[in-house]
Amino acid sequence: MKFFVDTADVAEIKDLAASGLLDGVTTNPSLIMKSGRPMLEVIQEICAIVPGPVSAETVATEHKKMLEEGRKLAKLARNVAVKVPLTPDGLKTCKALASEGTMVNVTLCFSAAQALLAAKAGATFVSPFVGRLDDIGQDGMHLIGEIMTIYRQYPHFKTEVLVASVRHTQHVVQAAKMGAHVATVPPNVLRQCFKHVLTDNGLKAFLDDWAKTGQSIL
Ligand code: G3P
Repeated sequence: MKFFVDTADVAEIKDLAASGLLDGVTTNPSLIMKSGRPMLEVIQEICAIVPGPVSAETVATEHKKMLEEGRKLAKLARNVAVKVPLTPDGLKTCKALASEGTMVNVTLCFSAAQALLAAKAGATFVSPFVGRLDDIGQDGMHLIGEIMTIYRQYPHFKTEVLVASVRHTQHVVQAAKMGAHVATVPPNVLRQCFKHVLTDNGLKAFLDDWAKTGQSIL
């Protein structure tokens, strides 16, 4: 499973990219707002740090303008994936951008029927928001299972399931168990994936004992 980080914070991205485990980045208008920086500048900067797909979201709601925005965003770098909403205009734009060879991430997906349409529109990625479904008392991960089942019936679908709105490490683990292609994870959750109290305790004990030997490897 690929790991993307869900942030527009360049310092965080640089730090996580240094781990060598980052396959891409997703942003959205809210994350750009949080960064307090001009979107086009931030996207270009991120694209230079991470070679994998970097999602940059359109904000127009009408097809013609959305397509224009998408084309402009796609020109920023070769690894831009243009994000469009899962609306009729969004899917029309997806189809057009995909036919031009641009990667498209169809976002704000909340149902299996929507995911089916995104695949038919030639999306590179579809982003079901699991945390936001959990927030309203539904089961976000159940939706991932449904989408994976549907996509497996049609091997000619090339759309990758990008699990978004991830809230905790269990979302990541469940996504991997279901064979989801990508999880986009907030920086704090990505850091949590490294952590286990027994790892910390075990390492401390080994280093304490090693110090008692008086040896050094180098
Ligand atoms: O970027 C899309 C998605 O991951 C947003 O997540 O936490 O705002 O529901 P969240």
